[in-house]
Amino acid sequence: MMSPAFVLLLVGLFLVQVCALDLQVDDSFQPRFCNSPIYCEGPLLKTVQLAKLFPDSKTFVDMPTKKPVDQVLEAFNSLGKTLIKQAFNHFPLQWLKKVKDLKYRGWIDNLHHAWSQLTFKFNTSSLCEGCVSSTLPVKRPFVVPGGRFREFYYWDSYFVIEGLLQSGLDSLARDMIENFLDFVDTYGFMPNGARIYYLNRSQPPFLTEMVKLYYQETKNVDFLKKALPVLEKEYSFWLKNTTVTIHQGDKKYKLNHYNVENHSPRPESYYEDYNTVYNGTNFTTKQQLDLFSDLATGAETGWDYTSRWTKVKDYTPDTTDILRTLDTRNIIPVELNALLWSMETTLAGWYQDFGSDITTDKQRARKTSYYKKQAKKRLEAMDSLLWNQDQASFFDYNLTSHARNDDDYSPASLYPFWLGAIPDRVRHSTETLNRVFDLTRDILAKTPGILTTTTHNSTMQWDFPNGWPPLQYVAIKAMLQVDQWLENERYAPLAKVLAERAAASAFCSWYLTGGSIPGELQKLSNTTDNGHMFEKFDVRSLTASGFGGEYTVQVGFGWTNGVTMWILNKFSDLVAPDCTSSNIYQVPNLN
Ligand SMILES: *[C@@H]1O[C@H](CO)[C@@H](O)[C@H](O)[C@H]1NC(C)=O
Ligand SMILES: *[C@@H]1O[C@H](CO)[C@@H](O)[C@H](O)[C@H]1NC(C)=O
Ligand SMILES: *[C@@H]1O[C@H](CO)[C@@H](O)[C@H](O)[C@H]1NC(C)=O
Ligand SMILES: *[C@@H]1O[C@H](CO)[C@@H](O)[C@H](O)[C@H]1NC(C)=O
Ligand SMILES: *[C@@H]1O[C@H](CO)[C@@H](O)[C@H](O)[C@H]1NC(C)=O
Ligand SMILES: *[C@@H]1O[C@H](CO)[C@@H](O)[C@H](O)[C@H]1NC(C)=O
Ligand SMILES: *[C@@H]1O[C@H](CO)[C@@H](O)[C@H](O)[C@H]1NC(C)=O
Ligand SMILES: *[C@@H]1O[C@H](CO)[C@@H](O)[C@H](O)[C@H]1NC(C)=O
Repeated sequence: MMSPAFVLLLVGLFLVQVCALDLQVDDSFQPRFCNSPIYCEGPLLKTVQLAKLFPDSKTFVDMPTKKPVDQVLEAFNSLGKTLIKQAFNHFPLQWLKKVKDLKYRGWIDNLHHAWSQLTFKFNTSSLCEGCVSSTLPVKRPFVVPGGRFREFYYWDSYFVIEGLLQSGLDSLARDMIENFLDFVDTYGFMPNGARIYYLNRSQPPFLTEMVKLYYQETKNVDFLKKALPVLEKEYSFWLKNTTVTIHQGDKKYKLNHYNVENHSPRPESYYEDYNTVYNGTNFTTKQQLDLFSDLATGAETGWDYTSRWTKVKDYTPDTTDILRTLDTRNIIPVELNALLWSMETTLAGWYQDFGSDITTDKQRARKTSYYKKQAKKRLEAMDSLLWNQDQASFFDYNLTSHARNDDDYSPASLYPFWLGAIPDRVRHSTETLNRVFDLTRDILAKTPGILTTTTHNSTMQWDFPNGWPPLQYVAIKAMLQVDQWLENERYAPLAKVLAERAAASAFCSWYLTGGSIPGELQKLSNTTDNGHMFEKFDVRSLTASGFGGEYTVQVGFGWTNGVTMWILNKFSDLVAPDCTSSNIYQVPNLN
């Protein structure tokens, strides 16, 4: 049964007068077939049709709308369940006293309180029967990134959860993880985000890492045991859907790639994808279908988009042209395999330590040995196919050229050092490790800001000159992790410079957009906003947000807040800069 309110809404959106339904396009842009996001393909159509709002499916698709397409879609996206701000108490942060610099201390306190701006819950009592929405509902509260992203996302949430734990919001962190575990239970994998149009793809598999973080903080074994079987379910999704076998000589290796089967524009980027695939191109049908899959796969990688996934890598004035050379599924990315190695190693360890409480001894032994073996095989494959001893780095592997994409530095190559997916030979060679971090050091020496994504200036948002907070976290963690293996502080100075730059970039761009701290930092008189935390930064300075990509730069911002809080807790003696000059954090020599 539909509620009267909902019927009214639908009537309001669709029934009154005819208006042009097709996207506004110039004459050269000839649709080759059905292209309306409402009537041909997409979440609204799917939801309305699956809800059987009309006995005859044709009824709906024959209905004219009275509002322009984007307004209908926007109304649809916010239909149904209402989001409410979730209230919670903030306790003063104990560790904040450690932060010596009073500007940084005030700023972190600000971020600590900002979680309440980003935390939502569904108001279940406002559910009207039969209402449709593209939202995938969850039972517990959740934190969103901010800006255009009003639903939660998969890999973003790891960095958000890190921040929540810094804020002492352990139960909110657990709520988020439990929402994800419910998703894996329901869908068999963790979708890209909480919308029905994200059900065709996942994102970098960070769920096990989230549980690990939460466990390290709380030592809550019961929670871990509850999560374990669900994490296995996620693991088997990656294994089944994304494994590639690679023959080299008489050897056979298995590694994973991102892999989304998709034959139409992504509903949330319908117009862009449609334009990329059809406008002025001369692709065969097969090439068109491949490009739709590579676009969706690019979104699954979390790096949408980067020259790591395109054939053309250098500056291309129209980003759409370079996207037409996407080759995402042919690339075996370093970080995906490092994350899966970590999943295998972690599951083996947890079965060994806690398995006896949830299964028989025989099962426990079998699972422990299975996951250990999987990890061992993966590390061998990574060593043979992804590691380049001459350049002392991991690189992505290209399934078409059957070779590594050598020379293409990106911080993705540091994931294995963070997570531990390193052959013993490398782990025990200080000489090799020095060269590993020299490479990162040299990249950092070229610009005053944070670590870039790649060295290619392509106009895509995961390329130079943009740098992203999660990658700073990975790089810093990698340096600290290796110091732990070596039991010294060899790379700590480099980690500290990167931490300084990451904190300063987020702080200065916040201050220059109106951020202030009572009694400590006066608001700039030329600003009207109250300080933005950006999702990405321009590595050429300490004061500018990043840019480019398919949407305008977003503010909020979950992962920036999380990473910043972690940095200031770890490096509590950092000093806030005055934000007038950039070139102030010089990288040290490593030798
Ligand atoms: C189609 O491509 C042309 C030429 O690049 C461009 O001017 C036009 O804006 C594009 N049309 C759409 C709908 O994006
Ligand atoms: C939840 O929705 C109901 C029904 O629409 C409304 O009366 C109530 O005020 C809402 N609760 C909150 C906390 O917004
Ligand atoms: C995973 O593979 C199965 C079997 O091919 C397929 O039905 C399913 O749609 C895939 N899942 C995703 C999210 O791609
Ligand atoms: C999901 O993938 C299937 C298979 O390619 C496709 O038919 C469907 O339209 C996709 N759905 C969405 C919402 O992208
Ligand atoms: C498109 O490709 C076909 C087949 O290769 C060719 O015959 C045709 O001339 C091409 N059209 C354009 C506009 O390039
Ligand atoms: C992969 O290798 C093929 C063949 O050499 C090349 O054409 C393609 O550009 C490469 N793909 C990427 C993403 O680098
Ligand atoms: C990228 O290359 C273009 C063309 O050479 C140039 O105009 C632009 O300034 C470059 N951008 C950066 C960030 O280097
Ligand atoms: C405000 O002034 C500062 C210098 O005092 C400048 O760096 C900043 O870009 C200005 N902000 C705006 C929004 O104009």
